Formats: sequence, C-alpha cells, structure tokens
Amino acid sequence: MSAGFPLSTIGTRIGGGGTSIELLMHDLGEALGSGRDTILMLGGGNPAAIPEVIEVWRRRMQELLDDEGATFSRMLGDYDPPRGSPAFLEAMAGLLRREFGWEVTPDNLAVTAGGQTAFFLLFNLLAGDMPDGSRRKVLLPMAPEYIGYCDLGLTMPLFEAKRPRIEHTGPHRFKYRVDFDSLDIGPDVALVCASRPTNPTGNVMTDDEVRRLAKRCREAGVPLVLDNAYGTPFPQIIFREATPYWDDNTILTLSLSKLGLPGTRTAVVVAPPEIARSIQAMTSITGLANNNVGQAIITPLLESGEIIRLSREVIQPFYKKKAAHALKVAAATLPDNIDYHLHESEGALFLWLWLRGLPISSREFYERLKARGVLVLPGEFFFYGVGEEDWPHSRECLRISFSMDRETVERGFEIIADEAAKAFGR
Ligand SMILES: Cc1ncc(COP(=O)(O)O)c(C=O)c1O
Repeated sequence: MSAGFPLSTIGTRIGGGGTSIELLMHDLGEALGSGRDTILMLGGGNPAAIPEVIEVWRRRMQELLDDEGATFSRMLGDYDPPRGSPAFLEAMAGLLRREFGWEVTPDNLAVTAGGQTAFFLLFNLLAGDMPDGSRRKVLLPMAPEYIGYCDLGLTMPLFEAKRPRIEHTGPHRFKYRVDFDSLDIGPDVALVCASRPTNPTGNVMTDDEVRRLAKRCREAGVPLVLDNAYGTPFPQIIFREATPYWDDNTILTLSLSKLGLPGTRTAVVVAPPEIARSIQAMTSITGLANNNVGQAIITPLLESGEIIRLSREVIQPFYKKKAAHALKVAAATLPDNIDYHLHESEGALFLWLWLRGLPISSREFYERLKARGVLVLPGEFFFYGVGEEDWPHSRECLRISFSMDRETVERGFEIIADEAAKAFGR
C-alpha cells in the first residue's frame, strides 16, 4: 500500500489485490483500452444490446419520467427498505407463484446489488469461521464454476470443488455431469452451490441431477444454492427443457443483468424467510438500501407478465441463434486433426472449448491469442477448489463468448483455430 497503513486480515484478503478476478478484469480492460477497434472481444460477460429489449427500457424510463404520481420522485429521492421495494417484492412473489406454483411471499425475498453481491452476502453468512471454532466451506458439486465466486470469502478461500464426470455426447461434443459417488456432504460443508445454466460451460444440470442434489442437501442439513443468472423465468437464456427448482431448503438467485440491465445492479434472493431476513440485515449494514431504478423499471413487467414474453420470445431466441451460429463456426474452423471437444451448448453466453492434450497451458494459449487481437478467457481460472492433484483437463479449456456480432465470432474462431493448429504442431 502506498500510504503504508497496515491492512486488517479481512482488508488484506479482499482489498490487498492480486485476486484472480481482479487480474483478469484488469487484463481484459487494458487489452480493450489499448485496441478497442481492433480487439476481437470473445472474453466478456456483457449481455448483448438487443434493440427490441432496449426499446422496452426506453419506454419504461419515459413512463417513469412522465409519471404524474410519486413513483419517479420516490425512485430517486427515497431510500428503499433494505429488503427491497415493497411493490417489487409483491410483484416478484406473484410472478413466481403464478409461473411455478411456488409458495413464495415477500418474506422469502431480498433484493441485493446484483447477483455478485448476493453471493458475497450468502457465502459469508453461512460459510467461513464458525462460532464454535470450526470452519465451514462452500461445496461446488461440479468444477469448473463461475469465476466470480472464487474470491468472495472474507476470511479464507471458501471452496471445495468436485471433478465432474465427462460424458462424450457426440463427435467433438461432451457434457459434464455431477459425480454423485464422490459427492460427500460432510459436517465441514456450509452449503452446496451451482450455477444453472453454468458460467463458463453452458451446461444445464438435468432435472434429475438437481433433484438428487436437493435431496442430498436436505439429508445433510445444508441449503442448496442455485444461481439462476441465465435461467427461467428471466432472462431464459437456456436452450433445453429444464424445470426450475426451488423448495424450502433451496436458495435461488435471480438477476436483472442478463436481461440487459447490468447497470442497475439488481438481483433478488429467493430463500427461506430466516435467510432472506439475514440478507436484508446485511444490506442495511453494508449499503443501507439497494439501487431501486431496476426495480422500478421492471415492476410493471412482472405484474403484467411482459417480462416472460420478452424473455421467451425475444431474449431466448436471440441467444439460441447466436449459440447455433458459434457452434457452426467452430465446426467449420477448428481442424479435425486436433482432439477438440465443445461442451453441449445448453444455455448462457459462452462456448466451452476443450483442447485435449494441448501441449501448452490455456493461460499461455490465451496470451498467444491476445497477441493476435483475440480475447477469450483461459479455463484454469474456473477450476478453483479442486485441490492440488494434477488434472490436465483444467489447463486445456477456454471460455469463448458468443454474444457479440457474427463477424467478430467468425474472425475470432479463425484465429483460435489457427493458433490451436500451431500449438498442436499441425
Ligand atoms: C453465473 C453468474 N452468477 C452471477 C453473476 C453476477 O452477475 P450480476 O452481479 O450482474 O447479477 C454472473 C455474471 O456474469 C454470472 O455469470
């Protein structure tokens, strides 16, 4: 620290710098800053700017501006209650009851400043140093998992991640599956967490996997946390049939970000009432209240169901088409004489490419691509918590975003294919 002040233990952990997410965000930002016009950006997690969706936000902003009642002045001029705006919570609970038949009331809900904050609060609420001197961790049933979780522990690295079973589903295709044989939910586990659809792989855990996980969690007396950033009922960036899951032992997070509103930093936690109350308490300590602009924009769309129509008829088809195009481009460009496998594309904004037997690490491969103006994410960042034992697979994968325009994806894949051929000496 330049000022030379000593940092606390927690300060060192989260403010000392050098976390993998910080390094990566910095690296991506720098590369973009130095070559915005020339960089082929296949590394980010931004939702696409879908004109029909932006038009809805524009309309809602205008309605808020024109509002003769108090909504506009309240939105900007009043602190919300820390749990969230009462109208938003009612509308959200109503939508979940109508759509899925879940017994949800506003007591089950708490708004947070985005899903990222929801996980920061949830993980530190339940895992870490316990009052009896023991330590409890977050169990990830399937690595690789969302990189944003990796550094969220206030006092220690929180994670134990399990290797999945790898199922070859077709030529050059595979799918990760939960290995229930190795899934031991011991007394040192605070909660089990998975994103569905998964960032970075585009995997969607099957209904059977989710039901089995939920059962194992209930038996072990720990909650199952499902990260629904890309799932149903919104934004519905999910390309296969999958039943949404919630019960009184499950914590589900929903976010407005992938609908196209990441700037509003709004998510909602659906949880047993005691957990929702704790999230509310933590929000009042850390931020007093949440940003309420996203809630105000979205509330009438929750009440009318327009959000479901927008997700099903506009957002889902938009990304499904992007995914199909990216798969086609990958098949057309990647050389057949290298041992490559793409994860089944079942949701989210990414393809997950496994270059089996890659002679260099994915980090080195990422650097070579960056030098040629293509940004992807190296896979090894997503395998935190898997332990020290060597696992070559964890160094052989890349996350490639497909949410940008077709030409960027096409030019990007040509270079990825060329570098892959070179790395394999073909
Ligand atoms: C799986 C997953 N969870 C959570 C988040 C956090 O998103 P936000 O904080 O914008 O809601 C992201 C963002 O990319 C994500 O991919």
